[in-house]
Amino acid sequence: MASLRQLQFDSFLNTSTLICLFLLTTLATSTTMNSSMSLPGCPDKCGNITIPYPFGIGTGCHRIGFNITCDLSTTSSRAFLFLGSDPLYNVELMDINITSGEARAYQKIDYVCYNEQNNTITSNTAVMDLTFSPSYLLSNRRNKFTAIGCYTLANIASIVRDTASVRSGCVSYCGNLNGTTGDGGPCNGLGCCQTAIPVGLNYYEVNWGYNIRYGWRFNPCNYAVLVEEDWYKFQVRDLSGLDFYERNENGVPVVVDWAIRDNGTCQHGVEVSPNPACLSNRSSCQNISNGKGYLCQCLPGYEGSPYIPGGCIDIDECNITDKNPCSGICTNTDGNFTCSCPKGTHGNPYGKDGICIKNPQNFPYPARVAISTILGVAVFLGLCLLVASHIQQKRHMKEKEEYEKYYQMMDNHLRVFSSKQIENATNNFSESNVLGAGGQGNVYKGLLENNQVVAIKKAREVEETQRGEFVNEIILLSQINHKNIVRLLGCCLEVKIPMLVYEFVPNGTLFYLLHRNKTRPTSLGARLKIALESAVALDYLHSSISRSIIHGDVKSANILLDTDYTVKVSDFGASSVVPVDEIVELVHYSVGYLDPECLYTQIITKNSDVYSFGVVILELITRKQAVYLDEKGDKQPLSTGFLSKARKNKHRAMFDVEIVTNDEKVMGVLDKICDIAVQCLSPKGEDRPTMWQVVEELQKLVRFHNSLESWQHDPQKTESLLGETKLCSLSDESDFNSTKYCTSQLEIDTGARS
Ligand SMILES: *[C@@H]1O[C@H](CO)[C@@H](O)[C@H](O)[C@H]1NC(C)=O
Ligand SMILES: *[C@@H]1O[C@H](CO)[C@@H](O)[C@H](O)[C@H]1NC(C)=O
Ligand SMILES: *[C@@H]1O[C@H](CO)[C@@H](O)[C@H](O)[C@H]1NC(C)=O
Ligand SMILES: *[C@@H]1O[C@H](CO)[C@@H](O)[C@H](O)[C@H]1NC(C)=O
Ligand SMILES: *[C@@H]1O[C@H](CO)[C@@H](O)[C@H](O)[C@H]1NC(C)=O
Ligand SMILES: *[C@@H]1O[C@H](CO)[C@@H](O)[C@H](O)[C@H]1NC(C)=O
Ligand SMILES: *[C@@H]1O[C@H](CO)[C@@H](O)[C@H](O)[C@H]1NC(C)=O
Ligand SMILES: *[C@@H]1O[C@H](CO)[C@@H](O)[C@H](O)[C@H]1NC(C)=O
Ligand SMILES: *[C@@H]1O[C@H](CO)[C@@H](O)[C@H](O)[C@H]1NC(C)=O
Ligand SMILES: *[C@@H]1O[C@H](CO)[C@@H](O)[C@H](O)[C@H]1NC(C)=O
Ligand SMILES: *[C@@H]1O[C@H](CO)[C@@H](O)[C@H](O)[C@H]1NC(C)=O
Repeated sequence: MASLRQLQFDSFLNTSTLICLFLLTTLATSTTMNSSMSLPGCPDKCGNITIPYPFGIGTGCHRIGFNITCDLSTTSSRAFLFLGSDPLYNVELMDINITSGEARAYQKIDYVCYNEQNNTITSNTAVMDLTFSPSYLLSNRRNKFTAIGCYTLANIASIVRDTASVRSGCVSYCGNLNGTTGDGGPCNGLGCCQTAIPVGLNYYEVNWGYNIRYGWRFNPCNYAVLVEEDWYKFQVRDLSGLDFYERNENGVPVVVDWAIRDNGTCQHGVEVSPNPACLSNRSSCQNISNGKGYLCQCLPGYEGSPYIPGGCIDIDECNITDKNPCSGICTNTDGNFTCSCPKGTHGNPYGKDGICIKNPQNFPYPARVAISTILGVAVFLGLCLLVASHIQQKRHMKEKEEYEKYYQMMDNHLRVFSSKQIENATNNFSESNVLGAGGQGNVYKGLLENNQVVAIKKAREVEETQRGEFVNEIILLSQINHKNIVRLLGCCLEVKIPMLVYEFVPNGTLFYLLHRNKTRPTSLGARLKIALESAVALDYLHSSISRSIIHGDVKSANILLDTDYTVKVSDFGASSVVPVDEIVELVHYSVGYLDPECLYTQIITKNSDVYSFGVVILELITRKQAVYLDEKGDKQPLSTGFLSKARKNKHRAMFDVEIVTNDEKVMGVLDKICDIAVQCLSPKGEDRPTMWQVVEELQKLVRFHNSLESWQHDPQKTESLLGETKLCSLSDESDFNSTKYCTSQLEIDTGARS
């Protein structure tokens, strides 16, 4: 009998819940225009504090774990989080935010004070214990544990839900009141200190370390409290007495993270729970960052309470006057709105700045027929014309666009030359003025009216891709100002192919110096300087903060030499401006310098420039071309040829005889350069050093080499500089594959052992 009665009772309960839910739903939907966020029939406020569902006052008005107690006994009602039968632990609320999942509460301040007259210590202990309800955690994002005092060590003793107890704390010290951070100063340990609290904290109390008596003469009281970040502003007077506590006797704001933390989970915005909380059918859920659990939120276009059936209400976007989303006729729809232009107008009316333009006047029907006939004929004729001049026009348009681009991108300091000026300067592009034939065209020497010598680059053929390269180069170079990068002085836009006017770099290219002018001696010092300055220029290109520039065609023929071997890197036709760490497609490359990775990825990166630079270094120390004839008379890329020699420890045989000496220290420098090259030539792009690392290594070498030269007269002094030199010997395959410098133990620091 008993069990039968139980059954009946259960089914009664079930039916009544259903009826209740039905009533609740209908009530909620019938009051959709009511702004209340509480369940129907439940108080939605306690004093001036709004209590939105899932919070609620009284039985049936709140979700389990969100019970609120409203104390009406005082003049202004006070709201508390109900945290058990002992009201001592209940936490007084300031406000609840339904969307952010945060609630502000009052937290009392902990203090210890030393009283000199009767030698006693008074204190106040303020515990925050949220363990009663899993819904609440102390916010680690919004709170800071803050201690104030001049001889203060304050710790948080706490229990983190589901984990062991933890402690964290902070120390503040000041020898006297003048030794503090000062009014408004940061809590950096001089008068006050702050520290973050761990995730998942639901209990905290303060543990004091140190003896308060040490600083009592000027700092009788120490304080510690968990408080909303940025609430506390240090004042020196807070060190002087109990004033700080008394000013904030009710407590200071602390942020509590609340969330739905029961048997349910949030799976990609869909709540999966035996006891769902996101009851509005226009709602979704979202995991939170502090502990497990989730929050509900209204879908975009809706607002209100996602926790109540029908609680998410369509936003009337058309009635939001301050940021009107429509300049035409606004029509609110369910969850969105549409915006259209009034009849007789057209345009894009969306947004505050949207516009609707009047349509052309409508004519009566016969007039319209006549007009359309005439128009039809005109259109036909026009079409014929269009087809005829189609290609021409397209080209013109493109040109125009590009020229507009130039004008936009060019700085004021770029000169614009007329074609007449250029012709005069180059003696009508006379053969005798040709400086070289670059990748995209000839370079002429020119003399401007003001007797300035310049280099003028003129493309050979009219090709779409080349025009693009020129544009690229103008844009790039107009923004660069570096002593090791060739300077663009101006351009000439009057001709079909724009011409670029550069500063004239008198001493030709590095290629010419090394491979065409072999009789000219070039010291190791000069070669090091060239290598370093080229690296500096490339590093400058790679590491521009806003955008990175990949040169894309690093080779000795693109390294110009000024007087005194000062490097000017040139030829930016293949360069690309990319946001940091982006990649660009391989457009063209020079045989012998190409990063092997690019061959199959078809993409150039900063690492490709590093590879090509490695080849340039090899050219510098071997004085062989990037593709050279080996002993057997076979054409061979310098990179692979050199690496195979280095693997057999025969790389020294490839060094340029001019710089090979008997001095092991100088040979050590050569080995070290070779190491840099080997690393730059690592088959995998990511194994290569950055241009900046290359610059650093080269700088060290230049310094060391200079010291060698200046100390030549005192051989004993240099004895220890190189230390033990592991040669550029890549004795076995594994060693070779590792990216370590083969002379990594080379001791370069001149100060270390002298
Ligand atoms: C609408 O909200 C007000 C408070 O804002 C409340 O007093 C009233 O009872 C609510 N109406 C219904 C039908 O629930
Ligand atoms: C509520 O009223 C108290 C004083 O009566 C005031 O200090 C507090 O700021 C008010 N809170 C809100 C949320 O308006
Ligand atoms: C909610 O809080 C009240 C006190 O405000 C308490 O009497 C009641 O038992 C609590 N309800 C639950 C379900 O804990
Ligand atoms: C609630 O929090 C959200 C997000 O932090 C914030 O945008 C909103 O202004 C807050 N609402 C109130 C009433 O403070
Ligand atoms: C010590 O003196 C202070 C006032 O100077 C007084 O408030 C406090 O009660 C005294 N404590 C004891 C234990 O006498
Ligand atoms: C603090 O500085 C003021 C003037 O800046 C000085 O008069 C005072 O003696 C100093 N106090 C201490 C304790 O050093
Ligand atoms: C979670 O599920 C367990 C068993 O499935 C149940 O005992 C418990 O009451 C549930 N908790 C909540 C908060 O629903
Ligand atoms: C939310 O967290 C639960 C477990 O805590 C996890 O299973 C779920 O994938 C998470 N949802 C999202 C959208 O990250
Ligand atoms: C949401 O609920 C309302 C009434 O409660 C109903 O009219 C509407 O069709 C529902 N929408 C969806 C998408 O279920
Ligand atoms: C509103 O509609 C527009 C286009 O009709 C769409 O782009 C936008 O995402 C919609 N907004 C919402 C909140 O659904
Ligand atoms: C627009 O909002 C105001 C209050 O903000 C309200 O009085 C008015 O009725 C609303 N108009 C429409 C068309 O919803």
